[in-house]
Amino acid sequence: MDPPNLPLLLLLTLASTIDAQDLFPKPYCNSTDNLTADSTYQNTLTTLLSSISTTNSCGSAIEIRRVCPDKKGAVLFRENCTIQYSSTSIFRTVKTDPDYALFYFQDFTSPETYNAALQTLLGRLRGEAAGGGSLRKYATGNTSVGFNTIYAMTQCTLDLTNQQCIDCLMTVIGRLGQCCAGKMGVRIMAPSCQFQYETNNRFFDLVVEPLPPPPAPVADALPPPPGTFALV
Ligand SMILES: *[C@@H]1O[C@H](CO)[C@@H](O)[C@H](O)[C@H]1NC(C)=O
Ligand SMILES: *[C@@H]1O[C@H](CO)[C@@H](O)[C@H](O)[C@H]1NC(C)=O
Ligand SMILES: *[C@@H]1O[C@H](CO)[C@@H](O)[C@H](O)[C@H]1NC(C)=O
Ligand SMILES: *[C@@H]1O[C@H](CO)[C@@H](O)[C@H](O)[C@H]1NC(C)=O
Repeated sequence: MDPPNLPLLLLLTLASTIDAQDLFPKPYCNSTDNLTADSTYQNTLTTLLSSISTTNSCGSAIEIRRVCPDKKGAVLFRENCTIQYSSTSIFRTVKTDPDYALFYFQDFTSPETYNAALQTLLGRLRGEAAGGGSLRKYATGNTSVGFNTIYAMTQCTLDLTNQQCIDCLMTVIGRLGQCCAGKMGVRIMAPSCQFQYETNNRFFDLVVEPLPPPPAPVADALPPPPGTFALV
């Protein structure tokens, strides 16, 4: 079977944060896309992944070859980045599957009020991330609900256009209703975009790091550089 299209649901009862390290890395091997043993694809892929330099908080790109040794396509969700490769072109393509959904077990006590504030915040941050240009499609913000504060983050891969980023985030944010409406904190990651929110926990840094250099162009059917999800 393909990696599931349905969000993988994890109930986080003990974790103090959605970024709990034992939830990552989360691999999805594309089982419809087999690699033959003698394939030059395999060698090229290994060489390519070895050559990709990643930040320390992302980890090595080649690790995914050990997890999905015989697949032409795979996605590896890490805490601070997402790595994907495919035999078909994924550049400038909105990929919302597979996805990985994490959420707190606790429900918010006044779901209607909470959801209204949350949707407004996510809608604003969706536009901000999409409008971020080709160097930073990332936005964070907060909003108050009674005595509580919701902190949220939205992010797209840098290869997406403004509209593609909006489409991607609309799709993954729309999945809230299927997995985890009204939860105190949720993170849904997809290959092309992700969002996260938490209640009374500013999970992102306020200090904005310098913009990274623009990604180097890569061969057509190869993935965009990893690290595009690295949280600043
Ligand atoms: C898996 O690979 C097939 C063949 O390349 C592709 O059509 C499909 O979209 C891939 N599945 C995912 C979830 O990327
Ligand atoms: C790929 O390999 C899996 C498991 O080895 C097998 O079940 C599947 O039929 C293969 N798919 C193709 C398209 O050959
Ligand atoms: C991810 O980034 C956060 C914030 O910078 C950091 O605390 C955490 O250790 C990083 N995770 C990994 C696996 O490096
Ligand atoms: C909430 O966001 C505003 C900007 O909209 C920012 O000025 C403020 O510092 C943030 N508050 C907290 C507690 O992070």
